[in-house]
Amino acid sequence: MDDLIAAAAAVRLNAHAPYSGFKVGAALRTADGRVFAGCNVENVAYPEGTCAEAGAIAAMVAAGARDIAEVAVIADSPSPVPPCGGCRQKLAEFAAPDVRVVLASVSGQRSETCVRDLLPGAFAAGHMDAR
Ligand code: THU
Repeated sequence: MDDLIAAAAAVRLNAHAPYSGFKVGAALRTADGRVFAGCNVENVAYPEGTCAEAGAIAAMVAAGARDIAEVAVIADSPSPVPPCGGCRQKLAEFAAPDVRVVLASVSGQRSETCVRDLLPGAFAAGHMDAR
């Protein structure tokens, strides 16, 4: 997991966050061992900004991978940074409920959770079965 946190910390430095001043990095490992990273990319039209997790997921899908095995997210926050609600749903699209998610702060704090605990009661394809 240390390599994943290091990848998230490295890509975080490339974040484009002039509006919030809050740089975030995310890295994920796929089931076949590849690592993809992403950072937040803000926009002057604020709602158009994208989160670090979304960037990492986009890089993974663009490379032809679909199956997330592990995730790390890091920011310069007073406590380990939690993914926003939208990113929890995005992670759940490609990660099984028991996939480990490590939340980190630049100062060295770590907290470990999993996709199930980040998004209890997740909306899933089965909820559309009555169509
Ligand atoms: N941010 C992320 O990149 N990931 C998260 O899960 C939390 C929030 C970014 C979005 C925005 O650019 C900045 O942090 C402040 O909300």
